[in-house]
Amino acid sequence: MTRIRSILSEAPLLSEVSVSGWVRTFRSNRFIALNDGSTLENLQCVVDFENFDEATLRRINTGAALTVRGTLVESQGRGQKVEVQVSQLEIHGDADPESYPIQPKKHSMEFLREQAHLRIRTNTFAAVMRVRSALAFGVHEYFTRNGFYYFHAPIITGSDAEGAGEMFRVSTLDPLTPPRDESGNVDFGEDFFGKETNLTVSGQLEAEAYAMALGKVYTFGPTFRAENSNTSRHLAEFWMIEPEMAFYDLDANMDLAEDFIQEVIRYVLKHCEEDLAFLDKRLEDEEKRKPQAERSGMGLIEKLRFVTDQPFKRVTYTEAIEILRNSKPNKKKKFQYPIDAWGADLQSEHERYLVEKHFQCPVILFNYPAEIKAFYMRLNDDGKTVRAMDILFPGIGEIVGGSQREERLDVLQEKMQQLGIDEKELWWYLDLRRFGTAVHSGFGLGFERLVQFATGMGNIRDVIPFPRTPQNAEF
Ligand code: 4AD
Ligand code: MG
Repeated sequence: MTRIRSILSEAPLLSEVSVSGWVRTFRSNRFIALNDGSTLENLQCVVDFENFDEATLRRINTGAALTVRGTLVESQGRGQKVEVQVSQLEIHGDADPESYPIQPKKHSMEFLREQAHLRIRTNTFAAVMRVRSALAFGVHEYFTRNGFYYFHAPIITGSDAEGAGEMFRVSTLDPLTPPRDESGNVDFGEDFFGKETNLTVSGQLEAEAYAMALGKVYTFGPTFRAENSNTSRHLAEFWMIEPEMAFYDLDANMDLAEDFIQEVIRYVLKHCEEDLAFLDKRLEDEEKRKPQAERSGMGLIEKLRFVTDQPFKRVTYTEAIEILRNSKPNKKKKFQYPIDAWGADLQSEHERYLVEKHFQCPVILFNYPAEIKAFYMRLNDDGKTVRAMDILFPGIGEIVGGSQREERLDVLQEKMQQLGIDEKELWWYLDLRRFGTAVHSGFGLGFERLVQFATGMGNIRDVIPFPRTPQNAEF
């Protein structure tokens, strides 16, 4: 069996081919448009009705699974160079035209989200998921080429890496007869075989242990956040890429993050030309339907090149606050992007202003106030800021969050004490500062946000096969 992509690119005319796939359309009782997922292009397969009985022809409906065998010939029709003159036809599975949801017409994204198991049979989703696959491969390629080891962080863990309390509890309790305390309340106690555990929010802490032995490692796996955000940028289950490097300070960390993002985008520009051209066109059509003021004015491929072809702008948090304070007041004499004071967390409107209006390029913000960042970040000598960095992308907002880690045992212990984090819970993490500690850094990149950027898809639910959000865990 040959894939349609290779038939179209390299099979000689008059060769015998055998292809399996799903019917996209069947026209004039004669022309099957067959798709096998290897390319956007359908293979035209011509059936001569004299050679096939009516009952067979009636089963060739949109969505049916077929194998055709025949001769590859030059096509007389417009729209394709070659076609298959079918000599044998095998129908594996029918698709009832009355009930098959993916008919050859434009479906809304909302409708397709309800059909997550079938939406992949549309060109848009097939293109997005092929780009997603290539991006994942590009990630592994980049790290392998740069001397990193792929490390698998645990999914079930006892620690809250971000200290934000947004965890899904893992429980072995019987939901029907859970143990109860004297007042009758469910006693979750220590419920995973005697230990309180949750699904990981980040593999960072474990990656630090591995970096402090293997030098440079990365994890790339599912992570979970029990945050009730219904936005086009948040999922309850998402994939995160987390490199962690011994002997890297914050500057080296930023250099790596920038190079990494640029290289993986170059990778898809090189390997996904056909799908990106399709998604570029799709975005252009979508933009045309938007009011002028909301249009980005840049095509998808142009946007990708824009990111790969120039350095990201590096700005401290303090400088960013100044820029926001000086943002032009609007007609009501109010600051357009008001920010309370130094120390406040940036809202997405602030991030968008910096990236899309002020700098008009990807921005790396660093040296944030310690109070708004996680416990493990390296305190600067000013005693107020930490060596954190976030990368902000146009149209996406935060795509990367990272930092240099606090490597000094006493400073880390003091910080944990301030925040009420029990040393017993993280004894092993503190051990890393007791035995052979060193400067080290890392970051986390939300894979779906990267796929969103690379494909131009507006909603994060459309770049992961089966999205998990507060309303949706059906599939
Ligand atoms: O900024 P975050 O929370 O950082 C960490 O978890 C660090 N431990 C990473 C590290 O240093 N190893 O998350 C990192 C990135 C964000 O910048 C964002 O791209 C993505 O993960 N992210 C989400 N993506 C989709 N849905 C969510 N709910 C996300 N939360 C974070
Ligand atoms: Mg963050």
